[in-house]
Amino acid sequence: MNRFTKQIVAIISLTLLGCLYLQHVSDCQRPSIALHQSQKSSPSIIDENNNNNNHNNNKSNNNNKCKPRSNIVFIKAHKCASSAIQNIFIRYGYFNDKIFVLPKDGNYLGHPQLFQRSLVPDPRSFKSNYNILTHHSRLNYREMSLLMPNNTIFITIIRKPINLFESMFHYYKLDKLWTITFDDFNQPKSFIPKKVKENRLVGKIGINQMMFDMGMTPKDFENDDKIRHFIQRLDSVFSLVMVAERMEESLILLKRLLCWNFDDIVVFKVNARNTNSKHHLNATGIKRIEQLNRADQMLYEHFTKKFEREVRKFGQKRMKREINTLRTRTKSYYELCVNKTITNSKSQIVRFVTRREDNLMCQFLTNNELSLTKFIRKEQIKRYPSSVFQN
Ligand SMILES: *[C@@H]1O[C@H](CO)[C@@H](O)[C@H](O)[C@H]1NC(C)=O
Ligand SMILES: *[C@@H]1O[C@H](CO)[C@@H](O)[C@H](O)[C@H]1NC(C)=O
Ligand SMILES: *[C@@H]1O[C@H](CO)[C@@H](O)[C@H](O)[C@H]1NC(C)=O
Ligand SMILES: *[C@@H]1O[C@H](CO)[C@@H](O)[C@H](O)[C@H]1NC(C)=O
Repeated sequence: MNRFTKQIVAIISLTLLGCLYLQHVSDCQRPSIALHQSQKSSPSIIDENNNNNNHNNNKSNNNNKCKPRSNIVFIKAHKCASSAIQNIFIRYGYFNDKIFVLPKDGNYLGHPQLFQRSLVPDPRSFKSNYNILTHHSRLNYREMSLLMPNNTIFITIIRKPINLFESMFHYYKLDKLWTITFDDFNQPKSFIPKKVKENRLVGKIGINQMMFDMGMTPKDFENDDKIRHFIQRLDSVFSLVMVAERMEESLILLKRLLCWNFDDIVVFKVNARNTNSKHHLNATGIKRIEQLNRADQMLYEHFTKKFEREVRKFGQKRMKREINTLRTRTKSYYELCVNKTITNSKSQIVRFVTRREDNLMCQFLTNNELSLTKFIRKEQIKRYPSSVFQN
């Protein structure tokens, strides 16, 4: 094989692997959806007489003074309900003509290697700047801030490490990689193979997944001082760290930070992750998994405390009121858009079937990351051909 053929073979194998391991089965099997582009200018269509839907209406924002922000880096940590948040950014970016940082195919920007500017075209080549980076990447603050405008806001989401680890273990079938069953963690006498600490699935998926996505080197996972130092740095990088277990409050804080309106932050998957699994961990299992994921545990403790302070500062009454409004908006969109849901064997919702193929907002709300990414890439290449590397 010559070098070129080898590269093609490598790319195809990696894509297939990625498909097998890193996506929902449904993502891979489904052909891309033909998104219609008819009513881009008016994504909010539930009640045309309700002025609160209008993006230009300042009353619907948090206060009359703030100006919507749209230069954003979102670190899409794995298995943290981050696809729901990504859906928000993809939608906002598309409806507001923002320019995305996009991989030439698939949905990863680097990873497992840290993000590098060289992964995407230099913004000078399309004489504008990027606005939104929301695809899987490992945080590399320096490279990202050199690529993005200076007023870019960094955002991410975290999830309780024990929940994340369990969901990741089953989703990516790590029992095969690590030759261990999930129940082994419960057994005080069972041996945890070294592989658990050392092997990551295709280099990407393993213990301390959140800290890995935040850019930390696995060799530092056992060093508490380095972990603490790293968390301090993250604290100064991120303007908001959302918490998956507190999704609605997270969405409201996101809305305030970005000065967006309720329709911008509607998502359908809010509660899809709250399913109770059949795999019960007892105190032994919990302790072992927390020890294995000590860096994530420290990250989670730091940022949930901070989150709690933010929520208190926001005000309880106001939070309650805003969550109610968000629920009402979400319900309206759900009724408008969703005909039925497709569930997997564990009765978790894996996708929504829309009743409104003609409605772009419904299409965005019900489609998955891969088909939306294909769509926005195609649309962006039309407007800014040199903003995406092409094969
Ligand atoms: C909304 O903002 C515009 C300027 O962007 C201003 O002229 C107008 O008075 C504002 N309306 C309200 C209701 O605050
Ligand atoms: C952004 O950074 C550049 C160079 O670092 C600087 O020249 C420019 O004034 C900055 N813009 C703002 C709005 O801070
Ligand atoms: C957890 O369950 C295992 C059996 O599955 C048992 O051997 C172990 O003692 C239990 N640990 C605790 C703390 O209950
Ligand atoms: C909703 O789903 C049902 C059953 O699958 C189907 O018969 C119907 O045509 C769908 N309605 C719309 C509006 O798509």
